[in-house]
Amino acid sequence: MTPKKVEINILFVCLGNICRSPMAKAVFDYTQATKGNFVHCHTRSVGTSGFHEGDPADVRTIQICAIHAVPLHHTARKITAEDAAWAEYIIGMDHANIDVLHQLLSVSFHPKIHLFGEFTDGSQPSEVADPYWSDLDAFEQVYQQLSRFSCNLLEYLHARHV
Ligand code: 4NP
Repeated sequence: MTPKKVEINILFVCLGNICRSPMAKAVFDYTQATKGNFVHCHTRSVGTSGFHEGDPADVRTIQICAIHAVPLHHTARKITAEDAAWAEYIIGMDHANIDVLHQLLSVSFHPKIHLFGEFTDGSQPSEVADPYWSDLDAFEQVYQQLSRFSCNLLEYLHARHV
């Protein structure tokens, strides 16, 4: 008999919710769909700010996802208490995201907060740097990092929950 899949809710968080976390959700969903796994993750992406509430993803995020044939559907919004309660993992892109999440969310949610780069093989955790003020190459670098981090997270979840 096929074992039942473990269901996990993951919330990807950045500052503006137009560049990194929408790409993180899209890349993670794509990675999960292409790699068979015994966990099934439901994903959302949000910002620690409402600067871009209602906006689509940044045009460079849309471009990079299109280049890599990764589907992207997105409308920006700020994190809510319901998002934090829904998620088992709240995953920030950089240390600034983590600091703001600690300020915004009640202490009971703090154990769920992680840096995306911390799910590694023990090497130094790294940040997904904000590409907003940079060029398309920076978005490609973000994509490469997010692909790697998505594989690492899936491996971690498989080892931890299956
Ligand atoms: P994100 O990038 O946090 O990866 O979505 C940014 C988007 C917008 C701004 C900063 C970062 N902004 O200052 O408007």
